Amino acid sequence: MDSVTNEAASRDRDSASHVAIIMDGNGRWAARRGLPREAGHRAGIEALRRVVRAAPNLGVRILTVYAFSTENWRRPASEVSALMSLLVEFLDSETPELVAEGVALGTIGDVTVLPEVSQQALQRALAKTAGGHRLLLNLALNYGGRAEIVRAAKKLASGVAAGAIRLEAVTEERFAQFLDTAGLPDPDLLVRASGEERLSNFLLWQSAYTELWVTNTLWPDFGADHLEEALAAYRTRERRYGSHA
Ligand code: IPE
Ligand code: IPE
Ligand code: MG
Repeated sequence: MDSVTNEAASRDRDSASHVAIIMDGNGRWAARRGLPREAGHRAGIEALRRVVRAAPNLGVRILTVYAFSTENWRRPASEVSALMSLLVEFLDSETPELVAEGVALGTIGDVTVLPEVSQQALQRALAKTAGGHRLLLNLALNYGGRAEIVRAAKKLASGVAAGAIRLEAVTEERFAQFLDTAGLPDPDLLVRASGEERLSNFLLWQSAYTELWVTNTLWPDFGADHLEEALAAYRTRERRYGSHA
């Protein structure tokens, strides 16, 4: 390892600058209280607010959160529409605070099939927060890792077919430029709430060497202290990327 890579490796140990979160357990949180699932999603938004406020002070520069997966359309129509309404509500009510806190919004996933009102709310929020430099809050909406890879492959294939890209020039780096996360570093740390130990189709390509941290805490109960705990665990990890110890 040369000294530059060594330096990068030691910085990696110090702070997780890109944190991905699977915000799971809203439904169970609500069920335990005898509440409708929507109440769990509403409480989940409060947890997201807490985490967004805390993240920049903990050295996090990019927060990518799984808000709605390509598989979540399988839920009852009433839950899907409640989630879409909550998204619009969150975007409209939170934008001023995001701007004040220097948070820029981004999205991953195919948002073109979201309801028109959701897309408009997204466009408004993206435009208003574009100048934020403290934190990038990346919302994964209608996101699925497999769908993202297929979309990337199609874009790449059409570039090759059109003669704009040479097949020999296709590398991992080139391929990654067609993913929704183009230009972003891979997540350092992936947090999952609610105890499930699976990726559920989140960031399949990007999390190849991401450190995983699972907590039994349900997402609506998650707060700054849990994020701190996750980051502390991260600092004890040794990232090897397949290299020697
Ligand atoms: C995560 O909570 C939120 C979304 C998937 C949108 P869930 O709704 O999956 O909650 P559980 O897993 O049923 O408890
Ligand atoms: C993953 O949670 C998706 C989001 C948190 C948005 P799910 O609740 O949909 O995942 P599974 O069904 O438990 O794998
Ligand atoms: Mg779930």
